[in-house]
Amino acid sequence: MQMILGPTSGDLDDDAVAAAYPWPEEGPWVRAMMVTTLDGAAAGPDGTSDSISSSVDKAVFDAVRRFADAVVVGAGTIRAEGYGAMRAKPADVGRRTAAGQAAAPVIAIVSGSLDLPWESELFTGSTQRPVVLTGSGAPTSARDTASQHCDLVVAPEERVTPSFVVDTLVARGLRRIVCEGGPSLLERFVAEGRLDEADITVSPVFAGLTERAGGAQDAVRHFDLAHVIHAEGFLMNRYLAPGGGR
Ligand SMILES: NC(=O)c1ccc[n+]([C@@H]2O[C@H](COP(=O)([O-])OP(=O)(O)OC[C@H]3O[C@@H](n4cnc5c(N)ncnc54)[C@H](OP(=O)(O)O)[C@@H]3O)[C@@H](O)[C@H]2O)c1
Repeated sequence: MQMILGPTSGDLDDDAVAAAYPWPEEGPWVRAMMVTTLDGAAAGPDGTSDSISSSVDKAVFDAVRRFADAVVVGAGTIRAEGYGAMRAKPADVGRRTAAGQAAAPVIAIVSGSLDLPWESELFTGSTQRPVVLTGSGAPTSARDTASQHCDLVVAPEERVTPSFVVDTLVARGLRRIVCEGGPSLLERFVAEGRLDEADITVSPVFAGLTERAGGAQDAVRHFDLAHVIHAEGFLMNRYLAPGGGR
């Protein structure tokens, strides 16, 4: 049993954080990056994970995807979160290319409907042309539109399987894969045994889980981490209400 007392504070060193999330030297590797609240929500009252995240969580999020080849995201997340252009920081481009990687990760979106924000920066401003993976049931007109904005890959089955996603990306030389959710897509990766690593942040807030309209919470409620006990793979966190707890 390991006990870590007291929260870490201050800025994280980006390179040290990235080093804590190494990629294997070879072969495909799929890691999930998600943040969850104390009440198990994946999004706050604003419907995005932004309100349940923080600057340190975002630093880890950036570090986890920094030297990835591909970032896999479900269409629900793209619609909810408004992803910006997929680019690498200028300082990382040289290191990536020296390692034989493309200048920036490719965004790979899984969508059945192909109802995606084609005019957004993600599609117009990313370093690499986005890849969209869809099922065989996607309407022809939607496929025609999608093909103008991305590399469209149609799976042989009605739904896209995680294995199809991984095999498609690996065939393109993209073996370091981050799955950024959301929960529906992640569940499928886990169910199919295609997840190698789970990088999960527990955010010290309650988000409220009831329907947003008429829900009891209109904002997240923050608690303070008092300690973490680490045993048998479980993290037993003690949180106190702001002000100290009685
Ligand atoms: N806490 C976090 O770290 C985190 C991370 C990501 C997202 N989120 C939050 O999670 C919420 C969205 O969650 P979600 O579970 O609805 O989103 P999701 O998993 O990103 O997207 C679900 C959508 O992805 C497509 N999809 C998923 N599996 C598919 C398959 N096998 N074949 C074809 N298409 C497939 C479908 O798109 P179509 O509808 O286009 O067919 C489906 O409606 C948002 O509130 C977001 O902010 C939180």
